Amino acid sequence: MRIGVLTGGGDCPGLNAVIRAVVRKGISTYGHEFVGFRDGWRGPLEGVTRELGIAQVRGILPRGGTILGSSRTNPFKIDGGVEKIKSNLADLGIDALVAIGGEDTLGVAAKLTDLGVNVVGVPKTIDNDLGATDYTFGFDTAVNIAMEAIDRLHTTAESHHRTLVVEVMGRHAGWIALHAGLAGGANVILLPERQFDVDQVAGYVEKRFQTQYSPIVVVAEGAQPLDGQMVLHNQELDAFGHVRLGGIGQWLAEQLEEKTGKEARTVVLGHIQRGGTPTAFDRVLATRFGLHAIDAVHEGDFGKMVALQGVDIIRVPLVEATRELKTVPVERYTEAEVFFGS
Ligand code: F6P
Repeated sequence: MRIGVLTGGGDCPGLNAVIRAVVRKGISTYGHEFVGFRDGWRGPLEGVTRELGIAQVRGILPRGGTILGSSRTNPFKIDGGVEKIKSNLADLGIDALVAIGGEDTLGVAAKLTDLGVNVVGVPKTIDNDLGATDYTFGFDTAVNIAMEAIDRLHTTAESHHRTLVVEVMGRHAGWIALHAGLAGGANVILLPERQFDVDQVAGYVEKRFQTQYSPIVVVAEGAQPLDGQMVLHNQELDAFGHVRLGGIGQWLAEQLEEKTGKEARTVVLGHIQRGGTPTAFDRVLATRFGLHAIDAVHEGDFGKMVALQGVDIIRVPLVEATRELKTVPVERYTEAEVFFGS
């Protein structure tokens, strides 16, 4: 078989580990051939490819980012996009695609499957918000980066008796904020799943100062105050209709400074959470996903996504996998609340 591989959406640590596993097993065990598509769905749409063999995947296991490049191109938003993809795949002699991406990239994969394209999906996102898989790779790395930042911020916050607000990624789901906040001993954690009362947060901050320690507030970029307008960096939408977020941390720090009379500063971790080398957990998960994805392609089991259930890698229909976003359940948030303000 001649198999195309692409990575779409926001990059995340572990993408290269998947590519390596797919290609290594695909060639050495099954004797397949590979074509790398550049920049997500832009590759098949515009027929932009790169060589992808054993030599090209040597040494990429620990490398962050993706050797194939990524984009948020949505072929369904482009006139004749799907027809272009189909004709490019036919011209290049591609029998099947491995699409590595989050809900948007895999949503496209699910629709293309219905239109007769042979696709197997691999879930990725630092947000960990894809239904049907217990974890996505990239999440563990992002959480560790955020945790290390929080650890460092504790000491400087205490030296200066100030509040530090740490804004982490997470548009609709607060998994990074919850896990990094718990692991880093944050004093307040704010998630997109639950609107927060800024006066209550100020109360937690004051209480923490009374213990002679300084408060660390972890806020997900998609968190919103009660009755508030979502704080938007700008109103631009990407091809999948997502707004660019950013700004809630700064807004919150200003509010807390005003309400508590104590200096408050913001640290926005941003894309640092997506860069650099993956943790061991993410390397292993990404590698296992890659190995199982190429098995699915070899067996002709298309329209499926590989997923982690417990410790096993299973296959689920792409449509099912992309149907629902996995948000933080209320009881998980309640568990963390015991530490707020203390
Ligand atoms: O989906 C992954 C993610 O990192 C989100 O946490 C974040 O909201 C978004 O991508 C940022 O996207 P971009 O890098 O395109 O601004």
